[in-house]
Amino acid sequence: MKTVITYGTFDILHIGHINLLRRARALGDRLVVGLSTDEFNLGKHKSSLLNYENRKMVLESIRYVDEVFPEDNWEQKVQDIKRFGATLFVMGHDWEGKFDFLSQYCQVHYLPRTEAISTTEIKQSLAVTTVTR
Ligand code: CTP
Repeated sequence: MKTVITYGTFDILHIGHINLLRRARALGDRLVVGLSTDEFNLGKHKSSLLNYENRKMVLESIRYVDEVFPEDNWEQKVQDIKRFGATLFVMGHDWEGKFDFLSQYCQVHYLPRTEAISTTEIKQSLAVTTVTR
């Protein structure tokens, strides 16, 4: 059984997230997702529209996702990889190179991002729509 692990905020779920999760799951038999907590996001100066519980319920409803667990700090990844017995760590290529240090614990793979969509862009276009109405 090959376990794949990935991380993210997954706020306002969109096709880029689904593509990432689908392709990550296809690389193994089980996909576990570290979901950034609201407190961790604040520490990164990032805020989500939907809170942790809400984002978790949405993620858990996706057929490619087997388990969701909290990501609340930058240092937990090695522990998580060992705890879940993950043999592959996957992130979108916006993170290219950033997690290469994990390759002493498991394979590290960066997947191409889906072009022209992100939570930030969705939030911006909603803000514009709201102002111009
Ligand atoms: N991702 C992707 N393609 C996109 C958007 C995101 O493959 N168009 C991937 C990211 O590379 C990451 C995962 O989805 O591995 C979760 O990304 P997240 O930061 O939660 O989503 P974004 O839409 O990029 O959010 P933001 O704009 O707030 O950074």
